[in-house]
Amino acid sequence: MKITVIIKLVSVLFTDMLYCFCVIGKVPPSNIIISAPSMNNLPRFQERGVSVTHSNDEVVDRSRLVFLAVKPHLVPKVLNGISGNVTQEHIIVSMAAGITLETLEELLPAGTRVIRIMPNLPCMLLEGALLLTCGSCAGQEEETLLKALLGPCGLVEAGPEPWIDAHVGLSGSGVAFVYVFAEALADGAVKMGMPSALARRIAAQTILGAGVLLRDSGKFPAELKAEVCTPGGTTIHGIHALEKGGFRAATMGAVEAATERARELGKK
Ligand SMILES: NC(=O)c1ccc[n+]([C@@H]2O[C@H](COP(=O)([O-])OP(=O)(O)OC[C@H]3O[C@@H](n4cnc5c(N)ncnc54)[C@H](OP(=O)(O)O)[C@@H]3O)[C@@H](O)[C@H]2O)c1
Repeated sequence: MKITVIIKLVSVLFTDMLYCFCVIGKVPPSNIIISAPSMNNLPRFQERGVSVTHSNDEVVDRSRLVFLAVKPHLVPKVLNGISGNVTQEHIIVSMAAGITLETLEELLPAGTRVIRIMPNLPCMLLEGALLLTCGSCAGQEEETLLKALLGPCGLVEAGPEPWIDAHVGLSGSGVAFVYVFAEALADGAVKMGMPSALARRIAAQTILGAGVLLRDSGKFPAELKAEVCTPGGTTIHGIHALEKGGFRAATMGAVEAATERARELGKK
């Protein structure tokens, strides 16, 4: 897909997401401008041929697609500052956690096309999972554009806004749940006599390999699990131990708790 839209970011986040736009060649660096109040982060973008400024208004005036990547508590201030320059030509994309489409639309001129995106940490490595949701004035065209632009960051899916909080629980926080599992796997091996550095490397590779297989095979997790469980074998004994420890319920509870917390934060 050839994308001619000019993309501009109001502030700095996800260097690597920006890197994707440039490297994959969908948006040349000369079509990107970034603003931030300080020079803390701007030089690394300048080095890639991206324009930088301290003026959010300049970004908005010179762009059609604007990514808003400030901390959530700064969103009202930044949108109040730029809203006079936002037109129906603009698409405003927010990645601020907990800031709803309703709030974004209230802070922008009526009719503004608004999209929320929720990335997770591995977007930085182009192996992320990102969910987007469109505001009342955005639709298929904007969704298709964002999916094409952000595709290099990993899996990009769209859904209704309430799924954003579930995505935070599943994928944003889920990354940390996987780290807890990785730590526990490695600790198990250490308990059985393996050096911890080696156990950590093998745990990481095990999780990576299992994830790639799950993603690329198209099989359900239960099918893949069954393929590893030979009758009376090692794996089914291990799985019984996991089930006795309430592993499945604990994991579902973790996603639920993180989702509920995201909902709570969104109401504040
Ligand atoms: N990090 C993640 O994994 C992740 C995942 C999902 C969503 N998010 C969301 O992404 C957003 C950014 O998070 P972060 O942790 O990356 O924040 P961050 O590191 O603090 O970066 C925020 C950027 O905003 C700039 N900024 C501050 N005030 C500004 C203003 N008035 N106008 C324009 N730019 C301004 C800062 O400029 P300076 O360089 O001058 O300080 C900084 O470059 C948050 O809303 C967060 O909820 C993050």
